[in-house]
Amino acid sequence: VVQRYEGKAKVVEDVVDGEGLVRIAFKDDATAGDGAKKDRFLGKGACCAEVSCLIFEYLRQRGLTTHFVRRAGDRAFVARRVKIIPLEVVVRNVTAGSLCRRLGIEQGRQIDPPIVEFYLKDDELHDPLLTEDYIRLLGLASREELDVLRREALRVNDELRELFRRARLLLVDFKLEFGRAAGELLLADEISPETCRLWDGQRSLDKDVFRRGEGSPLGGYREVLARIRSVLAGEPVS
Ligand code: TMP
Ligand code: ASP
Repeated sequence: VVQRYEGKAKVVEDVVDGEGLVRIAFKDDATAGDGAKKDRFLGKGACCAEVSCLIFEYLRQRGLTTHFVRRAGDRAFVARRVKIIPLEVVVRNVTAGSLCRRLGIEQGRQIDPPIVEFYLKDDELHDPLLTEDYIRLLGLASREELDVLRREALRVNDELRELFRRARLLLVDFKLEFGRAAGELLLADEISPETCRLWDGQRSLDKDVFRRGEGSPLGGYREVLARIRSVLAGEPVS
């Protein structure tokens, strides 16, 4: 029996005869507010899968190790099977979102050096912000592992900021997930406009369009994809 796990946005299945490999397929379903808000946008899965593949391939070229192995069709990729650590690792370069709500500060302020935060991946608890002591209390990661996660997240941030700068987009913040495989910590999950805030001036080209109830976010996602493609092909971004 092939192991299958279906989440809110993806389906993860073991690859038959693929040692320790899974196939991650992206769905068109969109949720926000910890599952409270739901919709479906045809083509979203394929678009976010493609952005994720391009970004993981770019990170690999830049010397970073991730779970990504190879593309598999137009809305999926093959990855190493990992045990996901239920932490959302958020990196912030510019104030926005929950940070502004929590601290009562305006959005759009540069954060230098960038901030790394850890949230518990738990919809029922609404993904609470964790302290390092909470993380150890829950047994989620050791002090040494947290240092590795923070360092990795900041390295990813350096690379992504540069990629998006060339795409004429501001990388405001993003969320990463990591997993364990054979005693190793690996960057996993996805990196796409569903998990990043990307601004072009005043315009959001990310999931905030959906979170704010401003209709389909797909136009923005496709714009992000087109620009990353151009950058990676060495073409000018229009
Ligand atoms: P936040 O400002 O809502 O805490 O979000 C910070 C970043 O993390 C933002 O780029 C959106 C991303 N994010 C996710 O990808 N999934 C989530 O469940 C949450 C809460 C945030
Ligand atoms: N809470 C997350 C978001 O707003 C995701 C979700 O609820 O599915 O992005």
